[in-house]
Amino acid sequence: MIKKILQKEDPALHKVCHPVTNFDRKLSVLIDDLVDTLEDAQGLGLAAPQVGILRRVVIVMDDDETFLELVNPEIVSQEGEQEGFEGCLSLSGLYGIVKRPMKVKVKAQDRHGNPVEYEREGITARCFCHEIEHLDGHMYYEKAGRLFTEDEVDEMLQKAEEEEN
Ligand code: NI
Repeated sequence: MIKKILQKEDPALHKVCHPVTNFDRKLSVLIDDLVDTLEDAQGLGLAAPQVGILRRVVIVMDDDETFLELVNPEIVSQEGEQEGFEGCLSLSGLYGIVKRPMKVKVKAQDRHGNPVEYEREGITARCFCHEIEHLDGHMYYEKAGRLFTEDEVDEMLQKAEEEEN
């Protein structure tokens, strides 16, 4: 079921989420709802608090455009650095420049409680960091300087491209 995505002002986005301890049908429904909502919004990632559920569950689009389901995710190692634009479905229409590790290793559980581990780089690594931060009540804009509109981002990217040529 597609859920309403809460916006930045909502208190649910500024709370620390609880670990998942029951791998039951309710959890499966939550995960399916998050995937439906993310697909509908055409985003790259979504965290449970963004639909008002204070549980440690996130969905991240993988390199092959399938969805990774992570319950109780934790970044266990990171490497390198990348700097780039980042946006959030809870802060629509705005983007900020954020530094993230280039590569991360994440440990989590699947919807049945089985341990899973993913090592990803680039945009997917960025997405892991962004979504996991949501579970601790943080949002990317806290790390960004000023925020830019989509038009401003397009302009900046175009300018950068012209300078390269
Ligand atoms: Ni977000």
